[in-house]
Amino acid sequence: MLRKSPFKHKKILIGITGGIAAYKIPQLVRILKKEGAEVQVVLSESAKSFVTPQTLSVLSEKPALSDFFKSDQGEWNNHVHLGLWADLILIAPAGANTLAKMSHGICDNLLMSVILSARCPIFVAPAMDLDMWTHPSTQSNIQTLVNRGVHMIEPEEGSLASGLEGKGRMAEPENIAHVLSGYLAPKPNYFLGKRVLVTAGGTQEPIDPVRYIGNHSSGKMGFAIAEQLIQLGAEVELVYGAVTVVPPTNCQSYQTRTAKEMKAKCDEIFPTCDVLIMAAAVADYHVVDVAAEKIKKTDDTLMLALAKNPDILKSLSEAKKEHQVLIGFALETEQEEFHALEKLQKKNLDCIVLNSLNNPKAGFAVDTNEVTLFCKDGEQYHIPTQQKDEVAAALLNKVGDWLSKTNP
Ligand code: PMT
Repeated sequence: MLRKSPFKHKKILIGITGGIAAYKIPQLVRILKKEGAEVQVVLSESAKSFVTPQTLSVLSEKPALSDFFKSDQGEWNNHVHLGLWADLILIAPAGANTLAKMSHGICDNLLMSVILSARCPIFVAPAMDLDMWTHPSTQSNIQTLVNRGVHMIEPEEGSLASGLEGKGRMAEPENIAHVLSGYLAPKPNYFLGKRVLVTAGGTQEPIDPVRYIGNHSSGKMGFAIAEQLIQLGAEVELVYGAVTVVPPTNCQSYQTRTAKEMKAKCDEIFPTCDVLIMAAAVADYHVVDVAAEKIKKTDDTLMLALAKNPDILKSLSEAKKEHQVLIGFALETEQEEFHALEKLQKKNLDCIVLNSLNNPKAGFAVDTNEVTLFCKDGEQYHIPTQQKDEVAAALLNKVGDWLSKTNP
């Protein structure tokens, strides 16, 4: 059977910046075109000293762009359109200057504007001299970009244009194509046919018939995860607490109120599930003596005795069978990574998803979130601020990849 290339019909934008390795990019364009990709080249001004737009236009069968306007007709090369057109952007070669500009959002040419407008995955193939590569400012810019989800194609070791030997050579075109091909190749869908228990929303702990202790969870994050899982072909069991939005209808769902009720429902369903994703915000304490009648405001102060709630996630992890996978969330306000990793370990989880209340566009109630996934083997993955459904899709994609490798 003929192999279907992962590049077939993929729209790939290659951004070339100034550096001697630019002379290798025509070869990469040829490889990608041969594999069936549509290639659009955008060059920085300095890239033209190393490779001609004419060569790239001929090989890509599209004008190689570098200016905001086509000089003869004054027509606009719409950077927003280019950023949205691409399925994948590759910046190669990317020098220290380009990495610094990307990390700081500097937007002083067409290529930088395209990068800032892009919504697709961005790959970067750095190329520079060895001391520039190891310089703390370059490494810090790289870390910033990686934390934002940019994919680095590590430079290779060897002789450099300066005559020195060391790390800094741009990866060879064949190797770059190999990395992109691995990324674009269809992945096994881990969640297809899996039974997944998802929790969402906040629990409420009654004080009296009219009052309760609760939190700001809307249910949006957990519901977004449930929706995405349904689209991936999973059989979803949804247990939710107090919410402000409507739950998905195309799965089994159960509304509970208190942490104890949520635990009872999860205890019932979990034994038949393959995966648990615990996005609910569960109250850690409940009121010891819930008043039977509405408490009157007779005194200036009111003392409520609180007792610890069961930890649903921890108790399920203690009951877990070998094949079962547990994923928790951690909502933090300080020493975020430390606390998330502590919960990962103490609750014996496979992964934990950290979100922080220090980002006003993350966490409770808002439509967006920014999360970092920590897996028990040390792998981590950051998902920048996006709509909760996009975060859910990216998260499940990453978790699915990780589980396919570690828990096939
Ligand atoms: O619903 P939204 O408005 O969209 O907001 C989403 C969210 C912020 C609620 C969600 O993204 C989130 O972070 N959920 C977990 C919140 C939380 O309770 O975090 P935690 O760090 O206190 O708890 C750690 C983990 O243990 C969580 O998976 C929690 O569900 C679980 N837990 C906590 C206490 C308890 N008694 N039992 C538990 O199982």
